[in-house]
Amino acid sequence: MIRIIDIHISYKEKENIINALRGVSLDINEGDYTALIGPAGSGKSTLLGAIAGVISPDKGDIFLNKYRLNKLSRRKCAFVRAQFYGIIFQFSELINRFTIEENLYFAWYAAHKRKNIEEYKNRLTYLINMLKIDNILSVYPTKLSGGQMQKAAIARALIKDSSIILADEPSGDLDPENIELLKALFLEENSRGKTIFLVTHDMQLAFDAKTIYEFKDGKIHGIVKHD
Ligand SMILES: Nc1ncnc2c1ncn2[C@@H]1O[C@H](COP(=O)(O)OP(=O)(O)O)[C@@H](O)[C@H]1O
Ligand SMILES: [Mg+2]
Repeated sequence: MIRIIDIHISYKEKENIINALRGVSLDINEGDYTALIGPAGSGKSTLLGAIAGVISPDKGDIFLNKYRLNKLSRRKCAFVRAQFYGIIFQFSELINRFTIEENLYFAWYAAHKRKNIEEYKNRLTYLINMLKIDNILSVYPTKLSGGQMQKAAIARALIKDSSIILADEPSGDLDPENIELLKALFLEENSRGKTIFLVTHDMQLAFDAKTIYEFKDGKIHGIVKHD
């Protein structure tokens, strides 16, 4: 359902050109749990941004179901992104003037035409239990520790119940205990049929994925694990 065909992305920095992606091809099917593991600067966030439709490739194509993301208007692309993806970005998207619970509610509200409040409550209860975030619901983002903020951002991305989860280094600020909570959450979501695509340098987190690719210098260098 996600098909990436030979994409190239470069950035211009003054006179320098940084070739962040140098020909990446990848298929992600419905229900897959795929991790891409690679060092800092290898192009992981760029690839995730391209899959999300936030960064346009210089060359190559990215399909999400019937949509060719790199050919859509910005508006249409934002619509498709909101419809299919729950995205855990490296930098939290929380709105500082709202509490965590308000942030979650608004993220859910914006994504659902049919406002079934019972569905929201069930999903919220599930995420509170899985991530153990009951103690931060009434708190404002600026008052949170890095780990709490990351858990709130994870909950915000997942509250919508989208069919595809994209995650960029979601464990960077988590301690080992919280990484275990996140792993259990991803496994549960995957067992419920969600597609997961994860980029990370953390093998502990990537370990549960059914397919693990090694990423280096803007390219897939090998398959560490395949189901
Ligand atoms: N907006 C940008 N402008 C210029 N260079 C960038 C930009 N974003 C990323 N890069 C560069 O592209 C390369 C890949 O970055 P990135 O995709 O963030 O890698 P990773 O997520 O694996 O750390 C790095 O060399 C980084 O410095
Ligand atoms: Mg990154």
